[in-house]
Amino acid sequence: MTILVTGGTGYIGSHTVLALLEAGKDVVVLDNLSNSSEESLRRVEELTGKKVAFHAVDLTDAEGLDALFAAHDFSSVIHFAGLKAVGESSAIPLEYYYRNVAGTINLLRAMDAHDVRSIVFSSSATVYGEHNPVPYIEKMEIGASNPYGRTKEQIEDILSDLAASDERWSVALLRYFNPVGAHPSGRIGEDPQGIPNNLVPFIAQVAVGRREKLMVFGGDYETPDGTCLRDYIHVVDLAEGHLAALNHIEPRAGVFRWNLGSGRGSSVLEVLRSFERAVGHELPYEIVARRQGDLPAFWADASSALADLGWSTTKSLDEMCEDHWRWQKNNPNGYTA
Ligand code: WQD
Repeated sequence: MTILVTGGTGYIGSHTVLALLEAGKDVVVLDNLSNSSEESLRRVEELTGKKVAFHAVDLTDAEGLDALFAAHDFSSVIHFAGLKAVGESSAIPLEYYYRNVAGTINLLRAMDAHDVRSIVFSSSATVYGEHNPVPYIEKMEIGASNPYGRTKEQIEDILSDLAASDERWSVALLRYFNPVGAHPSGRIGEDPQGIPNNLVPFIAQVAVGRREKLMVFGGDYETPDGTCLRDYIHVVDLAEGHLAALNHIEPRAGVFRWNLGSGRGSSVLEVLRSFERAVGHELPYEIVARRQGDLPAFWADASSALADLGWSTTKSLDEMCEDHWRWQKNNPNGYTA
């Protein structure tokens, strides 16, 4: 039986494809390559010695999806494909709703038509919004505060309603916190197009000389060092979390929600210092104005994933930065030669 991974050429997708192959699963990848490179799959094949079938299909292409499902005997789907920049989503919300929500509806319709009703969905901590106390717990009322987060929330609702209407569905909603790091080989990693929105890929580009200095967005928050706290998680731990969730839902119907995080917060300056240890010298930075929409501090209550899946993070912040740096140092321009 084969697993379809949508968005499988991306950062988290490619690491998850590698984990699935290493677990002996057969994998097919669907991606429109709008924000990733097929080279990541070539590297995954090199690392595992296994082949991965790739199809450049867009989720808005219902006919292409139907043909793909007709050509394969999928047992389940891990669904990453979608747009994911918070700031951008406020500028082009319709594109986000079209690609993320309408695209997922197309995917679910193709799954149902071909009797594939097991899905692991890439959700996000951003669905918890600004009103919830920290640490975030899965049973909390969600309410995202930006269009990107609302697409994730709406897809969670669609999947919940679908499972409630038809008990043949098995659904895992995985709420990621802040994925960073790279496979320890340094052969696959995060390759953001344009100026990185996120902290660690930006620091990595400063370290490799592509950016002048890190701008720290705010040093006057009510936190120990004045900078924001986040729950950083190694992308390899995150990939293993997907495998654990998939194994858990395959024999079980219904909807399951899990935070995938470490359960502790690290500050921007702590992350910078950790990356400096990986690089072996200080990196230039400047504390500037706060970024619109940033919350001072949030992290996961990760106890449900441990209790239900036996999964927890295993890698430290220093390991995240060491692995991220090895990827960036060996691939200064990402997958672009
Ligand atoms: C982390 C901290 C910034 C860049 C976002 C999305 C979330 C998820 C993960 C998709 C913040 C600070 C950042 C920089 C900085 N993505 N920072 N200088 O905002 O916690 O979460 O990415 O699911 O949905 O919201 O991550 O890495 O952007 O920021 O000081 O150049 O680093 O202010 O405090 P964030 P981030």
